[in-house]
Amino acid sequence: MSKIRIPIYQPDLSGNEKKYVNECLDSSWISSRGRFVNEFEVQFARMIGVNHTATVSNGTVALHLALLALGIGPGDEVIVPTLTYVASANAISYTGATPVFVDSLRDTWQIDPDDVRRHITARTKAIMPVHLYGQACDMDSLMRIADEHRLFLIEDCAEAFGTLYKGRHVGTFGDISTFSFFGNKTITTGEGGMVVSNDKTLIERARHLKGQGLAEHREYWHDVVGYNYRMTNIQAAIGLAQLERADEFIGHKRMLAQRYRDALQKLPVECHKEAEDTIHSYWMFSILVENPGQRDPLRKHLADEEIETRPLFYPMHTMPMYSKNYRKCPVAEDLAWRGINLPSWPGLSNQHVERIADSIANFFNKHP
Ligand SMILES: Cc1ncc(COP(=O)(O)O)c(C=O)c1O
Repeated sequence: MSKIRIPIYQPDLSGNEKKYVNECLDSSWISSRGRFVNEFEVQFARMIGVNHTATVSNGTVALHLALLALGIGPGDEVIVPTLTYVASANAISYTGATPVFVDSLRDTWQIDPDDVRRHITARTKAIMPVHLYGQACDMDSLMRIADEHRLFLIEDCAEAFGTLYKGRHVGTFGDISTFSFFGNKTITTGEGGMVVSNDKTLIERARHLKGQGLAEHREYWHDVVGYNYRMTNIQAAIGLAQLERADEFIGHKRMLAQRYRDALQKLPVECHKEAEDTIHSYWMFSILVENPGQRDPLRKHLADEEIETRPLFYPMHTMPMYSKNYRKCPVAEDLAWRGINLPSWPGLSNQHVERIADSIANFFNKHP
């Protein structure tokens, strides 16, 4: 008998999503104006504890706008972890600035503050910590470095909705921060993103740029080359409904993580830990195998059992467009070649986790 497939991610849209989307359709407010855009921005700000928010069409353009709002452009360098999703690096490139890749910490898999220090030059304008897979970066160290060298901090929180550092939500430490609401994110709008800041001017700049650079007091008058990076009312309607259930989603992921840890504890895998002083939101639950040679056979074994997984991201400095100044980032490379993301989503049950853990155990029985 064939087994039911366990996807890597499946959003739960069973709350008020349909009701709110139908309201958009019934009222014909389907474009980027309408009550949900504003409500989603207000409720999101309240939820993470930040003063100003601007919805955008995805997490990549959120980063682009955050960089532009800070005036980052050609000739500037932005320090970013090499172990991240490609959008963090690409957004820096869109501005004409250069991404400077640094290594990760062995324990938390997050940007290594000592390696950040080693890569500061006269051209460095900003540091972009990425809270990877739902774990928080060492914000105290990064804020200290940013302060000492007068650098901007842009937090990429695409994978870290629900993540806390010393009791505060990530995204509230930097000058400006961004979130993604792609279909596999902890809360989703299908495609979507948010730029957040406690600095009103920065969010006003982001708003100006996301709406084609429209001048405030004259119709059809544009005073900068802007973009259409707006979120629709329909997306925001879904986002608001998702936000209503955010605590439930995050609580469930944290419960699943504990189940995974219990079920995997006797196996030769290392689970992504929750660092001291943080609340890990487990966007994905991730493990490391002991040697890189085991990784792909284990993934193949799980795929054959209808369990979808993902490899950890390839480090950016190994990709063709970013490998010109190749230097070794040994920790990030080691994590990347050994890491696997396992399913972690709202409807995933304890039975699913047990099936995944049993399947991993079977693999190691066959390949001791
Ligand atoms: C770390 C990181 N940054 C940025 C993004 C970009 O977000 P989006 O896919 O919404 O453009 C993602 C998306 O998955 C991400 O994981």
